[in-house]
Amino acid sequence: MSPQRCRDIAHVSAVELRTQVPAETVDFFVRLMGLSEVARDGSRTYLRTWDDYERFTVCVVGAADSGIGRTWLRAAGPEALDRRVRAIEDAGLGLGWADGEEGIGPTYRFTDTDGHEFGIYWESDWYEAPEGQRPALKNQAAPFPGRGASVRRLDHVNYLAADVPAVTAFLPGVLGAELTEQIVMDDGVPSAVWYHVGDKSYDLVYTSDWTGSTGRLHHVAFAADQREDILRAADVMLEAGIHIETGPHKHAIQQTFFLYVYEPGGNRIELCNAGARLVLAPDWRPISWSRAERARGQAWGLKTIDSFHTHGTPPVDAAADAPGTAR
Ligand SMILES: [Fe+2]
Repeated sequence: MSPQRCRDIAHVSAVELRTQVPAETVDFFVRLMGLSEVARDGSRTYLRTWDDYERFTVCVVGAADSGIGRTWLRAAGPEALDRRVRAIEDAGLGLGWADGEEGIGPTYRFTDTDGHEFGIYWESDWYEAPEGQRPALKNQAAPFPGRGASVRRLDHVNYLAADVPAVTAFLPGVLGAELTEQIVMDDGVPSAVWYHVGDKSYDLVYTSDWTGSTGRLHHVAFAADQREDILRAADVMLEAGIHIETGPHKHAIQQTFFLYVYEPGGNRIELCNAGARLVLAPDWRPISWSRAERARGQAWGLKTIDSFHTHGTPPVDAAADAPGTAR
């Protein structure tokens, strides 16, 4: 725990999702999750959750395979951006500056220690709802859509990583993130770690990739307001023929109320309630969960489904993603 909490990253702002079926993936996000399309650029479709103050929340990209592309982080200010870029370059993880896109300014590209791509930036053109689509209250980015799950915002990203211990040096040392909870195996090695950059108890999560692959995605999570919204979302997904992997239920770790589905491109999407806790303590004492404690299942006893340990995107081979092959 560093003596002075770093606040250089304001929040995780957007993700790029790869899919072999971009039209179906866009339809999933618009019709079932309640996002809106803001722009298209070739194979890239920019979508936003209704309460995002920025231009876009998800960029759906038609690609040869599924998985996560870039994750965008908004710096807390221009000096914070400079500090983080220096730290990234010192760590040898920088890829250089790129022009911004769809409402965001110059973006410094880099990778984490596992090869996932990130972009950090400061300049951002806030979203302005078009005439005729303005919300009744001016302190809200857009009207509540009342469509599908109507998720409010991006909540967190859970990456798969071949080397979780390497990530535990990168996240605090390079990004200034703080550990809030972790799973530690009997040999003392962490297999999953939850870090936060703001007051929300987690923003960036890394889970050991049992296949040993790098750069894969476990899931991207979106927040709705209440537990009831997650129950309704399960009905929405059921009706639409979307694969529900597990839930609704309550996590033991971080206590989030959850639903996991696979969007049509195969990427795992979590819907979670915004009742996820805030960690306000700047000297928070990280919670460690043992393998035995994990084996008890989720908060109310639901056992963790095998595919939760095996499915990631892109798939590495058919056997690896087959339910029932849990480690
Ligand atoms: Fe999650």
